Amino acid sequence: MPFALPIWVTNLGPSTRAVAYASIMDSFHFVNGQLHAESVPLAQIAERFGTPTFVYSSATIRDHVRKLQVAYAPLKARICFAVKACPNLSVLRLLAQSGCGMDVVSGGELYRALLAGVQPEQIVFAGVGKSTDELRAALGDHSALFPPPSADQPSFTQLPARPIGCINVESEQELGQIAEIARSMQIRANCALRINPDVAAGGHKHISTGGHDSKFGIPIEQAGPIIRRFASDKHIALTGLHVHIGSSITSPAPFVQATQRLLQLITALASPGANGEPAVAIKSLDLGGGFGADYQTGDAPAASVFAEHLIPLLAPFVALGLAITIEPGRMIVANAGVLLTRVRTTKQSGPSKFIVLDSGMNHLIRPALYEAFHFIWPTSVSPQHEPPRRSADLSLPGLERCEVVGPICESGDYFARGRLLPPISPGELLGIFAAGAYAMSMASRYNSHPLPAEVIVDGSDVWLARSRETLADLVSHEHGSGVRI
Ligand code: LLP
Repeated sequence: MPFALPIWVTNLGPSTRAVAYASIMDSFHFVNGQLHAESVPLAQIAERFGTPTFVYSSATIRDHVRKLQVAYAPLKARICFAVKACPNLSVLRLLAQSGCGMDVVSGGELYRALLAGVQPEQIVFAGVGKSTDELRAALGDHSALFPPPSADQPSFTQLPARPIGCINVESEQELGQIAEIARSMQIRANCALRINPDVAAGGHKHISTGGHDSKFGIPIEQAGPIIRRFASDKHIALTGLHVHIGSSITSPAPFVQATQRLLQLITALASPGANGEPAVAIKSLDLGGGFGADYQTGDAPAASVFAEHLIPLLAPFVALGLAITIEPGRMIVANAGVLLTRVRTTKQSGPSKFIVLDSGMNHLIRPALYEAFHFIWPTSVSPQHEPPRRSADLSLPGLERCEVVGPICESGDYFARGRLLPPISPGELLGIFAAGAYAMSMASRYNSHPLPAEVIVDGSDVWLARSRETLADLVSHEHGSGVRI
């Protein structure tokens, strides 16, 4: 592998009871009232690594990948994990070892994917505003973007300098830019045109990307002429289509609608244009990501449900040679992570009981930004308080309605409002569930709190995947008395 992992490993020992995780949504379970990640009690992780800490389950990640692989096997689809959901190198390496390619949206994500050992051909690159240096790096010239090899990290020199599998292009201007770069490198760049199919979908307006007013892609009615124009370009092989309609989608219907529109375009392109333009054989179709995850038990359909709707549409095209890619992020990692936090204080303010944690919107912004639901529960409870499912409305004895908030100086800094929880005291540990996607990747140092640690559990092993930042890290790029330029 191109870099050494893990940097620290321990075996925290088996739990009191064997844990089964064959057919359930993840590997976080209560065992005798203690929340475990696979067979490791979260309390032991807090003791060893402190809080707040993101805890990821390898078994869950592997299980979700396997379910996708099985579901899409009839289409021989390539699964490119959306790095933005959880870009930790150890997680990416685990995914690469499980057979995933990667979907990246920046030079930084491309760097991470290559560091994690993903072959360039298994990487696709989307994004509305790619820089020239990012495009050059995608085509195999890393010189302007990636850090130079250093003596302490000699293995970083081994990054393969070959063009990635496909650049997903978002505008005609970008096609021109890529053609120019490819010409200077004397290569032909594999590209797909990102189509805006005018199908709006997604769990929140901020994460709906396929509607006609979106900044993403090219309106479907404009796509044909562009593709025909670039069909014989010396430096661009524009033989793919890409689409991504939104995120946190819990129904197959919008995927079906968007896919049908793209297949119509592929069919139309297979014949010459109205003015005699050449026919174009589209060779690849990337359907993007967007499949929902279970934030509450039963929220999202299984991977197989989406696949069952898409396979009949796509199979005839696959039989004729069309290559399919999907780019799931959330579906693979959301339920594979828990944010482990400690209660700093509790206070009664008028009618409200506040539970103030050592983590907030700085580490998991989804409730504040999208009003997203995350199940929250103490990691140590009496048997009567083991949650039978993850849901906002559990009817267990003695629950109290609480405001679960962070330490950040904004009233929008909350994890849950009016949430029913068992009685909670200062110092207790809480788990915030389904925090594997878009949590650490969107975390900030707001209010000058350092970023949390990330650990990966694998059976009874615990791997430190990212050290907790220190206050020294916080100011390490600043120049105390300013730098004169
Ligand atoms: N492909 C492209 C081009 C994307 O833009 C995205 C997500 C994905 C794939 C993966 O989508 P997924 O399978 O994870 O739904 N921060 C938001 C989610 C933003 C998603 C952005 N694009 C959240 O926390 O809900």
